Amino acid sequence: MNKQLNNDQLTQWDHDHFFHPSTHLAQFARREMGNRIIQTANGVHITDREGRSSLDAFAGLYCVNVGYGRTEIADAIAQQAHELAYYHSYVGHGTEASITLSRMIAERAPEGMNHVYYGMSGSDANETNIKLVWYYNNILGRPEKKKIISRWRGYHGSGLMTGSLTGLELFHNKFDLPLSQVVHTQAPYYFRRKDRTMSEADFSADCAQKLEELILHEGPDTIAAFIGEPVLGTGGIVPPPAGYWDAIQKVLQKYDILLIADEVVTGFGRLGTMMGSDHYGLKPDLITIAKGLTSAYAPLSGSIVSDRMWDVLERGTDEFGAIGHGWTYSAHPIGAAAGVANLKLIDQLNLVSNAGDVGAYLNKAMNDALGDHANIGDIRGEGMLCAVELVKDRDDRVFFDAADKVGPRIVAKMFDLGVIARAMPQGDIIGFAPPFSLTHDQADEVVAATKAAVLDVL
Ligand SMILES: Cc1ncc(COP(=O)(O)O)c(C=O)c1O
Repeated sequence: MNKQLNNDQLTQWDHDHFFHPSTHLAQFARREMGNRIIQTANGVHITDREGRSSLDAFAGLYCVNVGYGRTEIADAIAQQAHELAYYHSYVGHGTEASITLSRMIAERAPEGMNHVYYGMSGSDANETNIKLVWYYNNILGRPEKKKIISRWRGYHGSGLMTGSLTGLELFHNKFDLPLSQVVHTQAPYYFRRKDRTMSEADFSADCAQKLEELILHEGPDTIAAFIGEPVLGTGGIVPPPAGYWDAIQKVLQKYDILLIADEVVTGFGRLGTMMGSDHYGLKPDLITIAKGLTSAYAPLSGSIVSDRMWDVLERGTDEFGAIGHGWTYSAHPIGAAAGVANLKLIDQLNLVSNAGDVGAYLNKAMNDALGDHANIGDIRGEGMLCAVELVKDRDDRVFFDAADKVGPRIVAKMFDLGVIARAMPQGDIIGFAPPFSLTHDQADEVVAATKAAVLDVL
């Protein structure tokens, strides 16, 4: 790495040439917000070019699940790059890494899910999923059954179709999204339910009823699939209310609607269970995987296909020829090598069970420290996911104005205290998704910084 460049030079080039995603471009250009140039990382800490170290309690973008600086994965990547940096996987080609990884994923997937198509990002994996759903229904001779139901506050990427599936307005505004084939239903967000007299079970039944009403309104013969994250992620880190997935799956079965479980965040251990589908008893037809598949040491994503869909896909190619879907970098050898090393490491270090144990500790400690504060409306989580939602008035559940930027201000204060959390994009919600290797002491550090920042800002 070229360390001869000084920080001022890099910052100048950063402003002149680098188009950062999800960034207020004008504020960045006017230098009203700073840049941060990250240099190294180890364990749960990242260090920037100013020499500042932070405990990364969001694991990058909930993806560096095994923690930073794992030489086992770095070595596997280097070895693969030396041996074979690239070959494609079209027309039956593969590598030892891509074939081994497919086997390892099938062993970890729910029963009856045995084939994996690879991409580079969660977004492109969900694009693949929607194409597979459409192909499937065309092969079955039901070309009208094409619409996809997603949830408000769901996050499924920011492509054209996947940005449409995403149920956050920021990702639609001024992009002419959502596309017409996507419809949204109620978010399973118990804390924000309209009728506060509802129990969790009532609210789950209400979500299922609203889903059924939407299906009937659109016409069951037009609805192909439902997509959802086992736990809402970017929409606010919201575990489902009791009974939610059972109630939803009953409706989907009734109208022969496929289920896509988007496990980009929950896959490979984040809930303290290998897959979120198993955690909540989901029986999906497709599972989206990305982030935790390689712990982001290399870009790799995948669509796990159920045997039920696979049979139809095979039939389709007998009728119509090779499947017309492929990326140059599908099953990229370097990504696949990173995936194999990452999944092995997760097993060797027992990281799934650590995510469950320390995650539960983190959630409890957060509740103990802040549960009684007048501006804390909700503290929730599952496994190594936690969210703290702020309110102006707790009894009447009045939210702050977005313009007050309460969430971002708390996160900025936490950063000063050496801890990175994420101000979730819609609502004043502080999100936590640390690496699975977090220790109890580090969890205490995260909680102490959160409490100090909340007390300082409010
Ligand atoms: C549940 C979920 N699905 C899909 C995506 C999109 O993944 P990517 O950003 O790799 O395209 C994300 C990203 O955060 C996600 O959280």
